[in-house]
Amino acid sequence: MPDLSVHVGGLTLANPLLAASGCFGYGLDCDPLIAPEIFGAVVTKTVTPEPRRGNTPPRLAETPAGLLNSIGLENVGLAAFLDEKLPALGARGLRPVVSIAAGSPPAFAAMAGALDPAAILALELNLSCPNVAAGGANFATDPAAVAAITRAVRSAFDGPVWVKLTPNVTDIAEVAAAAARAGADAVCAINTLLGMDIDLETGKSPFARVTAGLSGPAVLPVALAAVWRIRQRVDVPVLGIGGAASAADVLKFLAAGADAVQVGTALFGDPGLPRRILAGLEAELDRRGCTSFADLRALWRAAPAG
Ligand SMILES: Cc1cc2nc3c(=O)[nH]c(=O)nc-3n(C[C@H](O)[C@H](O)[C@H](O)COP(=O)(O)O)c2cc1C
Repeated sequence: MPDLSVHVGGLTLANPLLAASGCFGYGLDCDPLIAPEIFGAVVTKTVTPEPRRGNTPPRLAETPAGLLNSIGLENVGLAAFLDEKLPALGARGLRPVVSIAAGSPPAFAAMAGALDPAAILALELNLSCPNVAAGGANFATDPAAVAAITRAVRSAFDGPVWVKLTPNVTDIAEVAAAAARAGADAVCAINTLLGMDIDLETGKSPFARVTAGLSGPAVLPVALAAVWRIRQRVDVPVLGIGGAASAADVLKFLAAGADAVQVGTALFGDPGLPRRILAGLEAELDRRGCTSFADLRALWRAAPAG
C-alpha cells in the first residue's frame, strides 16, 4: 500500500485531502455519511466573534459547471464554537483546522488568542470579509491588510497560521508573498471567484447582496494557475482549493505546487467522493511504481516540460 501522508509545514497529515471551509460544517455535520476521519484534516466553517444568521435566501444558484453561493458567513459564533463544536470534535479524537474571520486585525488576534493551539491543527484566516475600518473593502485584496492580520494573529497564537487567499486580485502571488513575509505558515488558494446570476423575470440578481462566490469545476483551472504562480514566488506550503472533484484533480494541484488539497463543492453532490479520491490516489501511485508522493514528485521533476 503506498503511503498517502503529506507534510504541510510541521504538520503531517495522513492523506492530502482536506474538507474545505463552509462545505463540511464543523466537522461532524455529515457524519456518518462522510466521517471526518477520512480526510487528512477538516477545515471548519468560518467562525466569527459573534453568531451570524447569514444572508437572506436565495443563497445558492447552480451554474453549468459550478455553484454560486451567497451564504454570508452564517455561523454559531466563537462562544458556541468553543463550548459545543470544538469539544465534540475533541471527544472524537479530532483536531480541526479552524477557519476564523473578524472585522479588524485586533479582532482577528482576539479570536486567535481564544483558541487553544493544543486542541486544533491550525488556524485558517478567512480574509475574504469586509475591513470595517476601510469602508468594507475586502481584506484579502490588500497585501498590507493581509500582512497586518497575519502578524496580529501570529503574535496571539502559538500554532500554525494558514492564510486563505482570494482569486479576485490582479496578482495573487503578491498577496501570498505578503502573508509569507508576515509569518504565515501556509497559504490556501483559492476562495470563491466573484460571480453573479440574473433572474430574467426581474432582470436583477436573485441574491440580496447581488454578487456571489463561484466555486466548483469551473474554477479548477483558475485555482491551478493561482497555486502555480504562488509556488514560483513563495516557499511556504500551499493548500490548493477550487473545483477538485477527482483524484486526477488532486494530482494536478500537487503537480502545480500544492502540498495538500481541499475539496468543497464536490462534497455536496457525492458523499462517496473522498473515498474514491483516496482510492484513485493510491492506484495512481501504484501505477507509477511510487510508494509516496515524494516519489511521484521526483518523477514529475524528471519529466520533460510538456
Ligand atoms: C456553500 C459554500 C460556503 C462556503 N463557506 C466558506 C467559509 O465559511 N469560509 C471560507 O473560507 N470559504 C468558504 N467557502 C469557499 C470554499 O472553502 C472554497 O474555497 C471554494 O468553494 C472553492 O473550492 P471548491 O470549488 O472545491 O468548492 C464556501 C464555499 C461554498 C460553496
